[in-house]
Amino acid sequence: MKFDLLQMVEYGGCSAKISPKQLEEILKYLPLPMDPNILVDIDTHDDAGVYKVNDDLALVLTTDFFPPVCSDPYEFGQIAAANSISDVYAMGGDPVLALNIMMFPAAKLPIEAYADILRGGFDMATEAGVRIIGGHTIDDFPPKYGLAVVGYIHPDKIITNSGARPGDSLILTKPLGIGVILAGLRLGMSSVRDVTDAKCLMKLLNKSGAEVMKKYNIKGATDITGYGLAGHALKMARASKVSMVINMKKVPYIGDSYILIDEGCIPGASFRNLEYAETDIDFASDLDYNLKMLAFDAQTSGGLLFSAPTEKVSKILEDLKSAGLSDSNVIGHVTEPLEKCIYLNN
Ligand code: CO
Ligand code: CO
Ligand code: CO
Repeated sequence: MKFDLLQMVEYGGCSAKISPKQLEEILKYLPLPMDPNILVDIDTHDDAGVYKVNDDLALVLTTDFFPPVCSDPYEFGQIAAANSISDVYAMGGDPVLALNIMMFPAAKLPIEAYADILRGGFDMATEAGVRIIGGHTIDDFPPKYGLAVVGYIHPDKIITNSGARPGDSLILTKPLGIGVILAGLRLGMSSVRDVTDAKCLMKLLNKSGAEVMKKYNIKGATDITGYGLAGHALKMARASKVSMVINMKKVPYIGDSYILIDEGCIPGASFRNLEYAETDIDFASDLDYNLKMLAFDAQTSGGLLFSAPTEKVSKILEDLKSAGLSDSNVIGHVTEPLEKCIYLNN
């Protein structure tokens, strides 16, 4: 490797998002366009917007970009693209087209690094069946990369974050701990194995998880990114007007991420996420501190969280596991709206 992208950033990936609290403040000032063909807008804080073209076709639109999460430019391109495309999968859509979004400090990085990031993005997009047909570049420091993605979906088959129903079970398709492992990488505390696992997870498209959701006619889902499991579950519970009980001992996490938290490896984004969500969350009195912090760990290109009819759960898990999502698990359930939106238990 010629140079290290991580040297250029304080925090990368989805943990570089502005805090959810600030975002909500800003969005208050954004007027909502009125158009009957807008099927999903920012009102419910969903993963992507959806616009109806005709009775058989709607477009899913989303964009994500962020500073480097790893040292290698090609891998960074792959991860950023997988993360950008994920929001289309979270809505049940088929991603089709994309544009590159690139901020690149031309004076500080060789042009080959630029080319490698774009090549990584191109290869991941190709794996997802997405054609990149253009883009935009700004000279800026630190580097940032991502995609604006368009997907197709049938207007009656949209999976939203408002589709969770009382009695459903909650399924998570990738383990948590990506934020902790990346923070540990900067501090020289993460093992090579855990870093490799985290990178593989970030490069893993949510495509196969989305295919399973579609097969079982799932109505409610989101993907877990910068606000962590608890933050995204909270947005889903609010949009669905339900409460959720999450059993943290059922939530899978990467290798030593639990132990790294003991050693103080908690990224700043976790505390921002906690601050945003805590008033709407009931924390069990015996809740394990490390599991609590994992619930708020910012994921980059994290898994899908979806709400499934409980009687279908064993078949769904079987399908997820045979699709290679071996850590998939039932992590809780959906209830009628209770006093708090989320109940975080051991
Ligand atoms: Co999302
Ligand atoms: Co997003
Ligand atoms: Co969604």
